[in-house]
Amino acid sequence: MKTKKTTKKQTGKAARVIYCKDKTGSITYTTDGKFLYAQIDNGGEIRLDLFDNHYYKLRIYNEIPILEIDGLRMQLVKGFKTPLEYAEKVVAGLSIPSNGQHVILDTCMGLGYTAIQAAKSPGIGTVLTCEIAEAVFTLAKWNPLSDGLWENGTKILPIHGDVAELIKTFDSRMFSFVIHDPPRFSHAPQLYSSDFYKELHRVCKSNAKIFHYVGSVGKGKGRNIEKEVAGRLSNVGFKKIKYVSKLQGLFFSK
Ligand SMILES: C[S@@+](CC[C@H](N)C(=O)[O-])C[C@H]1O[C@@H](n2cnc3c(N)ncnc32)[C@H](O)[C@@H]1O
Repeated sequence: MKTKKTTKKQTGKAARVIYCKDKTGSITYTTDGKFLYAQIDNGGEIRLDLFDNHYYKLRIYNEIPILEIDGLRMQLVKGFKTPLEYAEKVVAGLSIPSNGQHVILDTCMGLGYTAIQAAKSPGIGTVLTCEIAEAVFTLAKWNPLSDGLWENGTKILPIHGDVAELIKTFDSRMFSFVIHDPPRFSHAPQLYSSDFYKELHRVCKSNAKIFHYVGSVGKGKGRNIEKEVAGRLSNVGFKKIKYVSKLQGLFFSK
């Protein structure tokens, strides 16, 4: 990481306790509505935001931490009780069988909510999750609700790197399931490209089931991102492509 900034709380607003990291209460998390703070045993306090080419910040939404990058929310919250409910619905939509040791690729780790939810499925043996930004790893390590990413015995393998490059190193027909939850199109166009989809097709087993968040970019201007993406997916060989508007994403199969 080139630069990292953690700032002491400056707002005069009363802080509200949100979480304690563990039973000993060694880290207490508070929020003033705008920021999330970690209070450490020795009395120090860290505001959980940092700059590293982009501005990364944790904040609370309906009692759950979410990640913002340059002011854009990385968890879909509209229409859901909490940001965790989105992950629950995405994983439920994959209809993962309850038996087996299936391997799932979670292309974009973020705070790990989709990866952690996928790991709860008894039929999942391994979750590979990729994250390009070191700053996101730093914030996820502070976030008490991301602990499932690194707990002992977890099925989850977090990998630091650009999934558009990492995917080229994965074996063919390695994954039974994929969750592709990239930032919106304008912030990661390569993750919506035919080249990426060809690689995705290669690493999927036949009949693999995939979810792809596409967002709602250009909706007001007559653009139909789900149709554009569905066309490219179909061209590389994916089938049974179905749009679920509540999740702003597509389910499809190889
Ligand atoms: C929408 S968030 C993912 C949220 C995640 N599914 C969760 O449940 O918390 C997208 C994440 O992808 C990361 N990202 C962006 N481009 C990437 C790339 N090329 N490879 C891997 N991760 C990337 C961003 O830093 C961000 O953390």
